Amino acid sequence: MVAINKQELVRAAARAREGAVAPYSKFKVGAALLTQTGEIVCGANVESASYGLTCCAERVALFNALTSGKRNFVAMAVVARTAGGPMPCGACRQLLAEYASKAKVFVADSRAPSAIKVFSVRKLLPAAFVRKP
Ligand code: THU
Repeated sequence: MVAINKQELVRAAARAREGAVAPYSKFKVGAALLTQTGEIVCGANVESASYGLTCCAERVALFNALTSGKRNFVAMAVVARTAGGPMPCGACRQLLAEYASKAKVFVADSRAPSAIKVFSVRKLLPAAFVRKP
């Protein structure tokens, strides 16, 4: 079982946030996923002029990790400049329920990175729609 260092994961998410491409909302979000093997995979939000195509930091991190062959995620940190930290949107909760159901989700405000809230994916999305292939 890998040890979860939530401060380190929040720092990684804060660094990833610097890569956000958010010219429309100016709301930069960073996410960092920790695998069971101790690897950290990051992402940041990317926005489109066709607003609905925007992809959240959480999904960018998850897609990045999944398409690199990584599985068994134990934690995700999400950081943005917002009071209490950014709560993942419904779409990201669905993807977390499908691909990172056991992960702890840490959220933090980039201005107060040591004040970290923790949620389970089940708490964020109870009674999720999942299919086992
Ligand atoms: N966003 C994320 O990346 N993650 C969240 O948890 C909430 C929202 C992004 C989407 C969009 O680029 C911007 O924040 C404003 O909604």
